[in-house]
Amino acid sequence: MQDVDVRDVTPAPGTLEPIETASRDELAALQLARLRHTLRHAHEHVPHYKAAFAKSGIHPSDVTDISDLSKFPFTTKEDLRANYPFGMFAVPRERIARIHASSGTTGRATVVGYTKADIDTWADLMARSIRASGGRPGDIVHVAYGYGLFTGGLGAHYGAERLGCTVVPVSGGMTERQVTLIRDFRPDVIMVTPSYLLAIVDEMVRQGLDPRESSLQVGILGAEPWTEDLRGELERRLDMHAVDVYGLSEVMGPGVANECAETKDGLTIWEDHFYPEIIDPRTGEVRPEGEYGELVLTSLTKEAMPVIRYRTRDLTRLLPGTARTMRRMERITGRSDDMMIVRGVNVFPTQIEELLLRQAALAPHFQCVLSRAERLDVLTIRTERRPDATPEDAAAAATALEQTVKGSIGVTVRVQLLAPGEVERSAGKMRRVVDQR
Ligand code: DLL
Repeated sequence: MQDVDVRDVTPAPGTLEPIETASRDELAALQLARLRHTLRHAHEHVPHYKAAFAKSGIHPSDVTDISDLSKFPFTTKEDLRANYPFGMFAVPRERIARIHASSGTTGRATVVGYTKADIDTWADLMARSIRASGGRPGDIVHVAYGYGLFTGGLGAHYGAERLGCTVVPVSGGMTERQVTLIRDFRPDVIMVTPSYLLAIVDEMVRQGLDPRESSLQVGILGAEPWTEDLRGELERRLDMHAVDVYGLSEVMGPGVANECAETKDGLTIWEDHFYPEIIDPRTGEVRPEGEYGELVLTSLTKEAMPVIRYRTRDLTRLLPGTARTMRRMERITGRSDDMMIVRGVNVFPTQIEELLLRQAALAPHFQCVLSRAERLDVLTIRTERRPDATPEDAAAAATALEQTVKGSIGVTVRVQLLAPGEVERSAGKMRRVVDQR
């Protein structure tokens, strides 16, 4: 972690919500009451849950302890798709105040709905997340997450308003204008995907600005996997705090979990609204705290679309609370969908990012391209030279990267070195894996 010479992000006494520092017992009691209510609500109002619970031979009234949740069936993305578009809603359509949807690059989009109260809870949790990140009432917040069906932009927006900030709803894209607005409006906080923030920093440099002189104090970065090494890079280049925010549309949107800036030790899960479990992705068995596996989330307060044991496909582990009573989850390693299997070895793009960032002559922009030659899988890391590095240094760094990947992950890769700016950029989530097989 960088020694960041910017604002003190420790929350002032009395500024946290009481539940953030309540006792574990108090939190557990609240969770159990809310869980029982949610299970009854889902059972009564969503035919899918009624049928799925019956099939598993379990009824909401069987729940006397939070551990009983593990007897309930999982909910998957396929279940949401099968009930497209509004079949998972637990309230009449007239009570739905807003719809969001996930992009649906493969198959149907996943549709989610919110009542007025759900939007209110979401704004509260995003406000809590921004404050945990070091944002304060009165700050100017530049929102560069996409606005629209994606939950990033509007989720961040309502949260920043709720906290009492001045919101600049820029959305993603038009990178030159992002830089102009940051220069002219002097925001304290930026909310953006980490990969797009890198593109914005590059553009600042291209315009002859020193990113360290920018007004930014806090970056609230998420929607895609990223690493400690990238945190270091961004904190160093922008001289600000970079904090991780997590969420997914099916469960709410951004603000399910957020890192506390005073500890930067993983993301605090807002457990008064979401109950986390870690399972073995193959067997579905619940794993004990501290062990790695797939994150499963159950909503505790949602009205429009309660989700019971939703399989996120995100890989992480649970850790005890530090800055707050609620438990933490480690930074997400990756989605099970993004795991590449190269000649029998499992590889995540985050592992590549970690090693890539140690090469000073290579830019942090990269893609993993999978192809097939003579019936064998080939992994090519497409990256580029840093503008200030010589082609010779970059070529040597590319060779060194091939060697460290072989040495620490155990796979043979080829590094394809491009000129600065040639790796594909995205104004939102970066496509890390390009499968050409
Ligand atoms: O990405 C919500 C969001 C917006 C989160 C803005 C944070 C900031 P979806 O488009 O439904 O929703 O994608 C959810 O993105 O299951 C993870 O795989 C990934 N993801 C989200 N946040 C993180 C993070 C939004 N901090 C999917 N680290 C999730 C790693 C993340 N992956």
